[in-house]
Amino acid sequence: MLQRWSASDFAKNGQFIQDMAGPIFALLAPKPGERILDLGCGDGTLTAEIEAAGADVIGLDVSAELLAVARMKGLSVKRADAHDLDYVQEFDAVFSNAALHWMQDPALVIDGVARALRPGGRFVGELGGHGNIAAIATALRAVVKARGGDPAQAVPWYFPTMEEFGALLSGHGFVVREMALVPRSTPLKGDMHGWLGTFCRFFFDRFEEPERSHVLEEALDLLRPSLCDTQGRWTVNHIRLRFSAERGPS
Ligand code: BEZ
Repeated sequence: MLQRWSASDFAKNGQFIQDMAGPIFALLAPKPGERILDLGCGDGTLTAEIEAAGADVIGLDVSAELLAVARMKGLSVKRADAHDLDYVQEFDAVFSNAALHWMQDPALVIDGVARALRPGGRFVGELGGHGNIAAIATALRAVVKARGGDPAQAVPWYFPTMEEFGALLSGHGFVVREMALVPRSTPLKGDMHGWLGTFCRFFFDRFEEPERSHVLEEALDLLRPSLCDTQGRWTVNHIRLRFSAERGPS
């Protein structure tokens, strides 16, 4: 499933990602001189914070449009697929915020992360945990099903349980130091139309107009009773899986 990102929409509707990042940034605790890989760096907002802490950071992302914004900030970034990491014992830490849930083969990604880290290196991050944005995922599945499509193929996200993700890390030689599911209601600064347009472009792009507009309206109608209050304010219910793990010695 192709991901397409608009840098301006991301800046407008994706601010919550940075707003939620304080605790994992503290968990990463970047130190001056450390080599750090920021996996799924997007427009480089957090990459810049890691650099400001004195670390030598490189950001990777698949979106050329978001990387262009990161480059304008003077950051060292590269277009690369996290499934295909070719670093060997180069980094003191790998960091990832709100990116792993977009990746189709997490085992392959974690394999590359383990290879990229020096022994004792840290893998710290957050991704959507089991039940993340459940109402939105269910609404999108429902509109696909109503059109005779396969609801199981409607959305690409990987939202594992702690047990599932912990087992994946351990199976790749990591010792899990911290892991928690963190529920977080996020009031939107904009509206659900903007959120869906930014984060679910892959979904709506599969429909031609005028069908696309009908699908969008149907999804909004399904979501409104749960996620929009009487004042027209929208909230998204995130559940983040936060983790810190250490690569074993070999
Ligand atoms: C998240 O930040 O949890 C998220 C955002 C957009 C799509 C999927 C997950």
